[in-house]
Amino acid sequence: MAAVAPAKVTEVKHWNDRLFSFKTERAPEFRFENGHFTMVGLEVEGKPALRAYSIASANYEEELEFLSIKVADGLLTSRLQHIAVGDEVLLGKKPVGSLVLTDLHPGRYLYLFSTGTGLAPFMSIIRDPDAYARYEKIVLVHGVRQVSDLAYYNYLTEELPQHEYLGEEVREKLLYYPTVTREPFRNNGRITDLLGSSKLEADLGLPQIDPVQDRAMICGSIAMLNDISSLLDARGFNVSPSQGVAGDYVIERAFVG
Ligand code: A2P
Repeated sequence: MAAVAPAKVTEVKHWNDRLFSFKTERAPEFRFENGHFTMVGLEVEGKPALRAYSIASANYEEELEFLSIKVADGLLTSRLQHIAVGDEVLLGKKPVGSLVLTDLHPGRYLYLFSTGTGLAPFMSIIRDPDAYARYEKIVLVHGVRQVSDLAYYNYLTEELPQHEYLGEEVREKLLYYPTVTREPFRNNGRITDLLGSSKLEADLGLPQIDPVQDRAMICGSIAMLNDISSLLDARGFNVSPSQGVAGDYVIERAFVG
């Protein structure tokens, strides 16, 4: 049985010249947990060119959504960035991943730390009613270089709080903290610096992040994962040692196309 299946593109959105997102149809048998990733690709010169992409949509939604960078000389994204509604992409049939709520101990606040396209799996998590049932607050931190890299900014600030079913929980529990490093914005600086200085919690009016009560998920570059993991480790957090074994935090690399 083929490991991938074609899926029709239903929507494409370009955020800027480095970032775009797209939706595809979803086969009824395609099942995943919020936070999972799957392979996404195109046929290039007769062979599938596939990369891992986190699924940005929630697992009860009819369509699948993905967030991608555009790499001019990238085998896949140099082509993928030109897809249009009605085109077909290839999707892996077996979504997997470690950013799942079930691998975290229960707790008070859930911190979601992301940079760049590392936001994608958290777009799924913050639309999971289970996340709101498990935690008192969900803190979504997104670090980017420029304001235009803040994908889903309007959705997060305007639409999601008015969501028909989730709106009330979102208004009460979701704290969105976008931060920009290379141009002026209301929040500036790397997540590591904001966490190291506790400015993050101070800005949000929260007590300092606490390994006894708080939990975290991290998704970004390898360097970002290492740096945030070190900060959490130094504060006494224990990473989930392997899939299926709960910890105080879980990590996943933000995949590059
Ligand atoms: P900076 O502008 O200081 O490099 P990128 O586009 O390279 O993936 O970066 C996305 C965001 O992540 C940028 O704001 C960047 O900050 C930040 N960043 C890069 N490396 C790290 C790291 N090791 N820890 C935390 N944030 C990082």
